[in-house]
Amino acid sequence: TLADLQGMKAGTLRLAVVTTAKYFIPHLLGDFLRHYPMIDVDFKVGNRQQIIDRLGAGEDDFYVFSHPPQEQELALHQFVPNPLVAIAPQDHPLAGEGELTLEAFARQPFLMRELGSGTRHAIERHLERAGVDLNVRMTVESNEAIKHSVMAGLGVSILSQHTLAFGGSQGLATLSVSGLPINTQWFLACLPGKQLSVVARTFLDYVEQEGRAKLMADTEIDR
Ligand code: PGA
Repeated sequence: TLADLQGMKAGTLRLAVVTTAKYFIPHLLGDFLRHYPMIDVDFKVGNRQQIIDRLGAGEDDFYVFSHPPQEQELALHQFVPNPLVAIAPQDHPLAGEGELTLEAFARQPFLMRELGSGTRHAIERHLERAGVDLNVRMTVESNEAIKHSVMAGLGVSILSQHTLAFGGSQGLATLSVSGLPINTQWFLACLPGKQLSVVARTFLDYVEQEGRAKLMADTEIDR
């Protein structure tokens, strides 16, 4: 039977993902591992630069990026949307107003991810194209710490909407700002020369046949 065949797929799936992907990849793995109980997972998390550094060693089956490195040749499988949205504390005066201009938003004290972050890379590129400068008050090395700093009234930020899913938006408001969200996409990436293991191939097939649609339904991400 199909169940017998699934039960025979055994081994380790090695994933290395950027910090924002840790909010949704586990939900995908839950369903996948129920299908394949003999597969176990090695799950590494780092910022974009740290995950790019791991590409060099080539020990992982897949890398999850929304901004894959340009310099490196990669096989990319487009995954789900990753909108980057403006957040403020729930009771912030701007939260009640209509759409803000990007300039008005950018005058607020801003909490920015660290150098090497893909989120930061996307924000900087977007604002540079718009010709708008941010008023950076604090550099923070974690999405969670940014969310708590925003809740505490230290400023506003732009983060992946995935960081707010599954109950993660408590104490925060999403602001409507012209030119936002920044629309990016998630990619599953692998090294083009590397032969996929049976386990890795099984995961990729699962994502393409079922996982992507299930995740889109579960995360309630705008698209
Ligand atoms: P990061 O990842 O900000 O944690 O580096 C997000 C991304 O690469 O889009």
